[in-house]
Amino acid sequence: MKLKEILLTLGVVSAMTPSLYAQEAAILFEAKCAACHTTTRPSDRSTLVAPPVMGVMRHVKMTYSSKEEAVKFVIEYALNPQESKAVCMPQKIKHFGLMPSQKGNVTKEELQTIASWMYDNFPPKGFHGMDKGQGKSCKGK
Ligand code: HEC
Repeated sequence: MKLKEILLTLGVVSAMTPSLYAQEAAILFEAKCAACHTTTRPSDRSTLVAPPVMGVMRHVKMTYSSKEEAVKFVIEYALNPQESKAVCMPQKIKHFGLMPSQKGNVTKEELQTIASWMYDNFPPKGFHGMDKGQGKSCKGK
C-alpha cells in the first residue's frame, strides 16, 4: 500500500471512532444487561424481568444531574446492588426483586463504557415514563 493510501485509511478509521465506540457499547449492553433490561418500550409488560433501560435512566437522571455522578452510580449499582442505594422505584424492587450483582459477569471498564452509553442514549427524546406519576416514588422527590 502506498503511503497516501495508508494515511487515507487511517483518516477513515479515526473518523469512524465515535460510532465504533457507541457500537461497542451497544454490543456490551446487549451481552451483559439486555437479557433483563430491554432497550425498547415493551408492548407486553407482564413479560418483563426488570425495568426497561429508558425507565432506569430516567430515574437515575432525576437523582443525579451530572453525567459523571450518574455513570458512577450505574457502575456501582451493577456491581453491588442494594435496596438502600436504589435511586427510586421501591415498588420495582418489590415487583422484580433486587437486581443480582453483575460482578464477575462484567468488568468495571466495560461498565464505564456501558453506563456512559446508557446516559447518552436513554431515555430517548420525548419519553415521559411508562406510567404517569411513577417518578414520584423516587427518593427525595
Ligand atoms: C438478571 C437480570 C439483570 C441483569 C443481567 C441486569 N440487571 Fe439491572 N436490574 C435488574 C432488576 C430486577 C432491577 C430492578 C430492581 C433493582 O433496582 O434492584 C434492576 C435495576 C437496575 C438499575 C436501577 C437501580 C435503581 O436505582 O433502582 C440499574 C442502574 C441497573 N439495573 C443497571 C444494570 C446494568 C448496567 C446491567 C448490565 C451490566 C444490568 N443492570 C444487568 C435486573 C438485572
